[in-house]
Amino acid sequence: MSKARQRLARRVEEIQPFHVMEILARAKELEERGQDIVHMEIGEPDFPTPDPVRRAGIAALEKGELFYTPALGLPALRQAISDFYRTRYGVEVPPARIIVTTGSSGALMLACAALINAGDEVILADPGYPANRQFVRTMGGVPRSVPVDESSAYQLAPHHLESSWVDRTAAALVASPSNPTGTLVSTERLAAMAEIARARGGTLIVDEIYHGLVYEGDATTVLALADDVFVINSFSKYFNMTGWRLGWMVAPESCVAGIDRLSQNLYLAAPTIAQYAGLAALRPDTLAILDARAREFKARRDYLLPELRRLGFDIPVTPQGAFYIYAGCARLTRDSFAFARDLLEQAHVAITPGSDFGSNQADKYVRFAYTNSIERLKEGVRRIVRFLQKQ
Ligand SMILES: Cc1ncc(COP(=O)(O)O)c(C=O)c1O
Repeated sequence: MSKARQRLARRVEEIQPFHVMEILARAKELEERGQDIVHMEIGEPDFPTPDPVRRAGIAALEKGELFYTPALGLPALRQAISDFYRTRYGVEVPPARIIVTTGSSGALMLACAALINAGDEVILADPGYPANRQFVRTMGGVPRSVPVDESSAYQLAPHHLESSWVDRTAAALVASPSNPTGTLVSTERLAAMAEIARARGGTLIVDEIYHGLVYEGDATTVLALADDVFVINSFSKYFNMTGWRLGWMVAPESCVAGIDRLSQNLYLAAPTIAQYAGLAALRPDTLAILDARAREFKARRDYLLPELRRLGFDIPVTPQGAFYIYAGCARLTRDSFAFARDLLEQAHVAITPGSDFGSNQADKYVRFAYTNSIERLKEGVRRIVRFLQKQ
């Protein structure tokens, strides 16, 4: 076999690996050697997919519902998502504007493919979900990362858009609540940002993947405020369905035919079994299970947040949603990556260093995920206390 190195496109070379994957791999290695690891690095719910959803998936499989669906998704699922907007938010979103996708990752890819020409810029918050930069780059765009801090709740604010928007800006992308910070963008700011994008001839994209996991504050969908925005959502987080690879996007009606052509060509359709399961995810009996789990996430946050503050982490803005706490660790270490590594090796607690989310002060932050029971979080805190005492 040839030893020559296969040539890959430059975009592949430019992608940074997720450090959390390294941490996870090392944690697994330690576990295989018999070490007990407290996981506070994992960005997916620890709850299994609710039973009604699993049963619906099995029923679809047994009935042989295994053909392609239309590229925009099963009509019944698009209708059910539309109904969900009405019952949850009191907002009318016609099924014709709803596009079913392969997770919100598929939706982000489609949104970028639909909106970006080569050389166009997209404004993103740093820290932010790291894959967004790659979606933009893959479509030939240029991610314009804007450093954000506690003064705007670690989120893009209207003044950031005003100062960063240039002629070749196609869009601004915000996630509310955000990964890694769990913070929200207020309704007023969302409306103002939609207006700025509109006035400049661009688009506001809002990633609402952590909706449903909001513990206080006003988290209405941006669709209540504007209908010329792109909204990204998913069955992964609130619906506890990460592995099913199902999400959706809401786009302005005039864009849907073009997006239909893109999705037909890029991936044909979202997984059929997952779409049938998704129908059951939106039923009231399932939503009751999910809302109880969301209350459990809130209880975990309410436990962990004061504990981390007590230990010396700086968390100036209360994270109102998702399952993350983005914690300043400058009082405890000069290097968050080394801190995360040492915490894993010496205290057997896995967390994610700030460098996974951008380069803005990344060495001063770590992310805690409370995707673990309160008992395990308590054990994690005990270990961190002992670790810090030894420093
Ligand atoms: C902010 C944000 N957007 C999108 C995704 C992608 O999720 P999925 O493709 O499973 O819907 C994630 C996953 O962690 C995320 O945190």
